[in-house]
Amino acid sequence: MLDRINQLVEEIKALQASSAEEAEQLRIKYLSKKGLVSQLFDEFKTIANDQKREVGQVLNQLKVLTQDTITALKETHEGSQAATSGLDLSAPGVTLPLGSRHPLSIVKNEIADIFARLGFNIAEGPEIEDDYHVFTALNFPPEHPARDMQDTFFIATNPDILLRTHTSSVQVRVMEKQQPPLRAIFPGRVFRNEAISARAHCIFHQVEGLYIDKNVSFADLKQTLLYFAKEMFGADTKIRLRPSYFPFTEPSAEMDISCTLCGGKGCNVCKYSGWVEILGCGMVDPAVLDSNNIDSKTYTGFAFGMGIERITMLKYQIKDIRLFFENDVRFLNQFKSAY
Ligand code: PHE
Repeated sequence: MLDRINQLVEEIKALQASSAEEAEQLRIKYLSKKGLVSQLFDEFKTIANDQKREVGQVLNQLKVLTQDTITALKETHEGSQAATSGLDLSAPGVTLPLGSRHPLSIVKNEIADIFARLGFNIAEGPEIEDDYHVFTALNFPPEHPARDMQDTFFIATNPDILLRTHTSSVQVRVMEKQQPPLRAIFPGRVFRNEAISARAHCIFHQVEGLYIDKNVSFADLKQTLLYFAKEMFGADTKIRLRPSYFPFTEPSAEMDISCTLCGGKGCNVCKYSGWVEILGCGMVDPAVLDSNNIDSKTYTGFAFGMGIERITMLKYQIKDIRLFFENDVRFLNQFKSAY
């Protein structure tokens, strides 16, 4: 029997097939129930016990060799068959184009990440607001120009309902719900009745920050914003605070950073001043704390608000704010980021 097995091994090694059908015929010849290899397995039962081990081993090797050889023959022909039918099984797969995050989302996430490292969490409020949360609770006098029809979108049937003009309304929403210590940022969309140009849009995005606790000082505000500027724009970035006015902060300031394009030497982005404005900020006005049931004798706080479009334009040197809202994929595809 060993001789016949060895003979078959040689035969199998020399097998050839010119088509997949021929290979299938070979499979039937050798491996089907009555095939030559299978017949040997039947005979194996009659072999003397002391030979079973040796013969069994070579017989199994023969079976594996036959299976592998015939499968390989089949595969070569199946491949070429596919080729003549116009299918190239070796062609690389079609890669689906990956989307990318909107640049404003990338920068918003990056801002959130920087402030998370300082212990700020995230809160949100409604885009459709009432006069109380956007203006009254923030100490805006009734005749303040920001309430004017020219700046604010009102709901036609009810002048008390409006689209929020800033995310500072979320300060009020948060103070209503929570007593200090309080440390959070509020990203969101805001609306202003402005003519659309390369530098202004009627819809844009802000990130507001609010920190209220015992002994919060202007130095804390400055250091927090310096940390933010360096993390966002690079370690060489400098900041400058200029006195300003907001009804809900006292004192108030506007913050400039050293120009991201020229580094402070002067260029057309910073209008040759070396500085660009990025946010408004200040110490929360005690009147705002008190009207929101936070004791201004015990607590102090700071707040700031920045436009995400502006930060993004400076970071990526984008010259026209309208690009953010056109959703041209040629523009959007340029932003690949970890955020
Ligand atoms: N809400 C102000 C604006 O939209 C920015 C600001 C926020 C200023 C918080 C001071 C404190 O211009």
